[in-house]
Amino acid sequence: MATIINLPTFRDDRGALSVIEKVLPFEIKRIYWIYDVQKQRGGHRHKKAIQALVCVSGQCEIDIYDGEKKRTVVLDKPTQCLVLDPRDWHTMDHFSKGSVLLVLSSEYYDRNDYIKEAYGE
Ligand code: TYD
Repeated sequence: MATIINLPTFRDDRGALSVIEKVLPFEIKRIYWIYDVQKQRGGHRHKKAIQALVCVSGQCEIDIYDGEKKRTVVLDKPTQCLVLDPRDWHTMDHFSKGSVLLVLSSEYYDRNDYIKEAYGE
């Protein structure tokens, strides 16, 4: 099941700094980011890839279904990291203007790792 990690964050009079170090359940092999979003994205689960999502600017919503439970997570803080298991079928939507969703993946890109069929209700 998806989990949320509250990232170590350092605030001082200059501003804030959040860090991902030794908190993810995988080694990072790939980093990508999603922005200028006009329509819903995602709509799949994975065979192997674990992914960690941080909305580093703005906010967005992630709908998750692991085949048993449905959950919606609003990512609206750059201090929050959502970790999706491979079995978590997910869509991303309701991106605020100027938002950027950073994704860290446990696997190199492989289109054969995608399962696009949704779970039955
Ligand atoms: P896609 O998987 O449709 O994005 P989303 O998860 O938001 O639905 O990917 C969009 C395009 O980008 C598609 O042509 C594949 C390509 N792509 C890569 O080449 N490497 C990557 O790491 C990712 C995530 C996508």
